[in-house]
Parts: sequence; structure tokens; C-alpha cells
Amino acid sequence: MDRSKGKIIINGGKPLNGEITVSGMKNAAVGILFATILTEDKCIIENLPDISDVNVSLSILEGIGVKVTKLDKNTVEIDSSEVTPGIAPYELVSKMRASYYLIGAELGRFGRAFVGLPGGCDFGVRPIDLHIKGFEALGCEVKVDGGYIEATTEDGQLHGNSVYMDVVTVGGTINVMLAAVKAEGITVIENAAHEPHIVDTANFLNACGADISGAGTDVIKIRGVKKLHGCTHAIIPDMIEAGTFMILAAATGGTLKVSNLIPKHMESVTAKLCEMGVQIDADEDALVVSRGPGPLKKINVKTLPYPGFPTDMHPQMCVLLCLANGLSHLTESVWDSRFRYVEELKRMGAKITISGRTAEVDGVPHLCGASVRAVDLRAGSAMVIAGLAAKGVTEIDEIYHIFRGYEDLIGKLQSVGADIKVVYPKNINYTEIE
Ligand code: EPU
Repeated sequence: MDRSKGKIIINGGKPLNGEITVSGMKNAAVGILFATILTEDKCIIENLPDISDVNVSLSILEGIGVKVTKLDKNTVEIDSSEVTPGIAPYELVSKMRASYYLIGAELGRFGRAFVGLPGGCDFGVRPIDLHIKGFEALGCEVKVDGGYIEATTEDGQLHGNSVYMDVVTVGGTINVMLAAVKAEGITVIENAAHEPHIVDTANFLNACGADISGAGTDVIKIRGVKKLHGCTHAIIPDMIEAGTFMILAAATGGTLKVSNLIPKHMESVTAKLCEMGVQIDADEDALVVSRGPGPLKKINVKTLPYPGFPTDMHPQMCVLLCLANGLSHLTESVWDSRFRYVEELKRMGAKITISGRTAEVDGVPHLCGASVRAVDLRAGSAMVIAGLAAKGVTEIDEIYHIFRGYEDLIGKLQSVGADIKVVYPKNINYTEIE
């Protein structure tokens, strides 16, 4: 089905109540799927979210010869015994950001890579210079030409080295890890990103026989090994999906038990919500979130690399700040340009002024339903939160962005009482409505 044509229709203003379960983490899944080509043995990946970025990743893998067998909706067996480097279909690679992991993975397996440049959400300039700097430090010659990136080595072997990341980069850290895992000698990544998906990718690689230590800290040490073997690995829960549901509970005024999350990963989001007066109770692998007594308090938020407040929670948090009492400030410090959603929120009655990298958000008593666009993935989930909290009907266009990263969002929201549906134009089969 052509999901690009659908619209989400929300009849908002109802508190949501019940339990909502978090799926596997998109940004861990995409790293680990490409990492599977580092071994010739079979891997089983569990808790894989059923989202379009994962499905595109699987199609890219199939395009280079990998055998993918779906064991169930969230489990795949991956057989990378026969892989041809350099032939990944450009139209798939350019659809998503994380296809850049194919560069590190092809380098790790074959000592050479030829991959189209990645796509993904539009946050302004999204360079991969630090990935390239890392590959060069490991002995590769890298050329970017005609929309492709080509990395080669003289003898088909990468050599361990020290790699300093000038900026904390999630993708750069994982990509250098993939390239270095079978390099000769030791690689040390300094100023590495700390995100949980980096730890999950390292855990997967170690389960395949890699020797990686320090993932989750500033310094990751990778001792090259000759060969990796297969393994079974379950993807960690998606902290951004979990945070999206936590904010949803606070915005709509109900009580949501957000289950299958790792509370430690949620600490920055939990702290900021508590500062706003939101009630959060921990319950093993769940957090129970409700609006709490009194109005939401104004706060200041700045996005930062983990363990700071995640940039991928920025637009969702902005919606909540719109509903707080007074003037809040939201500063984006990871991406140059993440405010494209603001014009959409203004259509719903939000009062937001952008000044440089900071949004000044003046709380309003309530948002009003309107026709808006999902300008990117997290902006899209912010529109869903805004629509569910708003009075009246909201229509969201360009919803394919949302399905890149949220598994069964509509079904999950309906199960906690949301009046939400997807409709497709008349020439598309309505029986396939999500
Ligand atoms: N940067 C450079 N040079 C590089 C790489 C990054 O200057 O070579 C800069 C970027 O311009 C940015 C900062 O470093 O200012 C951080 O970028 P990072 O490399 O960490 O981002 P990414 O790997 O491209 C991942 C997630 C994004 C998330 C960011 C930040 C994946 C597939 N994507 O992107 O997730 O926003 O980290 O946490 O893991 C999303 O899921 O919606 C999403 C956009």
C-alpha cells in the first residue's frame, strides 16, 4: 500500500487511559541489522520493530544477497553467508539515514565499500565527515562522488587506530565500531557517543565474538578479531517511543502505564516531566504517567547527547510546553534546524517564537484541531500528541514519516481510548486502513 497518500484523522480532547507497550528501538535495530553482515553465520534478531525504516533496511540487505526469513512479526533470521558488496540499490539507500551503516559493515567484512549517500529526516545539513575521518584513520581511502561513497584499502585489511570524534556522533561511533571490529589491532574511539543503541550494537557484536569494551562511555576500545559467528539477540526497547507515550499521557490528562521500557534510559525525560508537575511512578519495566494535580509548570529544556534530554524528543516536548502555564524555553543543541514543525503547531493555536536555536513557548489554555503536516518523523509524532490533546478534529498529512519509526501507532493509541484513524484517498483500498 502507498502509505504516502494517507492522512491521520484525530478527534482530540479525550484523556487516554490504560497500558501501552513499547516496541524495539528503531535506532538500535537499524545498526544491528547492517552489523549482521559482519558474520557469515546466521543471526536471529528478536524484538525488531515492524516499521518502515526496518523494512527498508531488510530490503537493502536482500539487495546485496542476504537471505532474510521473517520468523514472526518481530523476529527475523538473517543469513549473510553470500553477500556482494557495492550493489545496494540506490533508491533504497537514499530513503533512510541509517543506510550509512552499510559503509562500516561492508568495510568490516570486505575491506572495501561502495554505497549511495544516505537520506533521512531533514534537519538542515547532516554531514558524515566524522564517519569518513574514522574510516581514514583505519587506513581507508575514501571518495565521495556522484552521490556515492567509495572506501578502499590497499590490502583489503583495516588497521586499528585512535579515532577522536570532534563532535559526539551516534552514527559515526557505531560506523567506526562496525569497520573496526575485524581490523588488525586495537581501535580506540575517543569522545564516543553514549546512547543506549551504541551499547546494544556493541552487545550484539560481542555476542557474535567481537571484543568491544567501554560502550556507553566516552572511550570505546575495539580489539580486532579474525572472525565473527552468529547469535540470537533481542533489540532493546525504544526510549523515544516510550518518551513519546509519556508526554502523550501528560498532554491528554489521562493515566498511561508505558510498559516494556528501561527506566534508566528515561531519566532525562522523567526529570523534565516531574519538573513540570507530571506524576510518574516506576513499576519494574514500566512507568505510570499522569498529568498530576494543578496546571503544567513552565520549564526550560535543552537537547543534548545522551544522557541529556534527547533531540528526538524535542518536538513532542514542545507540544507539552504549549500546554504549560507561562513562558518556557526549548533549546536545540544537536541539530541546526529542527524547528520546521513549529509552523504546523501554530496552526493549532500554539504561541511559539524562534530565536536562533531556541523556541520561546508561551503556554495556551488548549490547542485547537487543524490540518497539519508531519514534516519529519518526530515532528509527526508531536502532531499526533497535539491532535489528541487538542479540542476538535486534526488531520495530519505526510504521515509516511511517522510509520518510519512507530510500530502500530494507530492500534496502540486506539487501545488506550484514542479516537484516531488513518484514511486513504478513494483510489486506494480502504479495507487496508491501519
Ligand atoms: N555530525 C557531524 N559530522 C558527522 C556526523 C554528525 O558534524 O560526521 C553532527 C551532526 O550534524 C549533528 C551531531 O553531529 O549536529 C549529531 O549527529 P549524529 O551523528 O549523532 O546523528 P545521526 O547518527 O545522523 C542519530 C539518529 C537520529 C538522532 C541523532 C542524534 C539514527 C539512525 N539516527 O542520527 O535519530 O536525532 O542520532 O541523537 O540513529 C530519529 O530517530 O528520529 C532520528 C533522527
